[in-house]
Amino acid sequence: MKPIGHTIIRLDEVESTSTLMLEDSAYLENHGLVVIARHQTGGRGRMGRRWASLPGGQLQFSLVLHPNLPPQEVPLLSLVSGLAVARALEDVLALSPALKWPNDVLLGGGKVCGILVEGARGRGGRPRLVIGIGVNCDGTPGDFPPEVRASLTTLAHETGAPVDKEALLQAILAQLTALHERLTAGDKAALLAEWSRRALLRGHRVRMNAADGAREGEPVGLTAEGCLIIATDDGGQYAQLSGELEWLR
Ligand code: BTN
Repeated sequence: MKPIGHTIIRLDEVESTSTLMLEDSAYLENHGLVVIARHQTGGRGRMGRRWASLPGGQLQFSLVLHPNLPPQEVPLLSLVSGLAVARALEDVLALSPALKWPNDVLLGGGKVCGILVEGARGRGGRPRLVIGIGVNCDGTPGDFPPEVRASLTTLAHETGAPVDKEALLQAILAQLTALHERLTAGDKAALLAEWSRRALLRGHRVRMNAADGAREGEPVGLTAEGCLIIATDDGGQYAQLSGELEWLR
């Protein structure tokens, strides 16, 4: 398969790089294609939220991935995307980010990168993923809308130095290519172990906000498919495939 980022389309402004790709089969059929924008006027986040865009101050891009995996392993690509960003931040900036299920990347407790993985059907009904990645690079949390300031951070704020966005983009794309290949080669146990090592998995009381409601408990691990296992107060456990994790303490 071609490397992710074999072609990069660079836009000044777009509503959303992910929406653009999802709405056009010419994009969707091109595994590894990347669209990056300096500014998004309607950037989308997980759970129907908006993604705030700081014109020129973030890495905001989406890519098409044709998963070369059995269907039950495709959700692992969501975790692996966060791992790719964490590794790239370590390689390029010598940082040690933490991961929050399923794929937030945190520095100093603040969210520095959000990832939106969306599925689509391509030619012949084949599964295609559009993975949208937003990394807060320049500026400070105060530059963002008041409702998200308290929960996010930027690379410049954490490191005190300007960020080479192009180097970071290339490192993320290289990591995604390598990690997708490793999953394809059957290396999922090692990747899940690495994800868990980097993640703040245990020691938090959480509320899992999911399509079927909210439940509280304590995360205790991951299933082989990347579902989060949560221990509930009644002594039971359940595995959650998708949702939004809220740390209560
Ligand atoms: C989240 O944490 O809620 C996910 C945020 C994903 C933001 C990125 S920026 C590039 C791509 N285009 C979008 O509209 N969203 C994603």
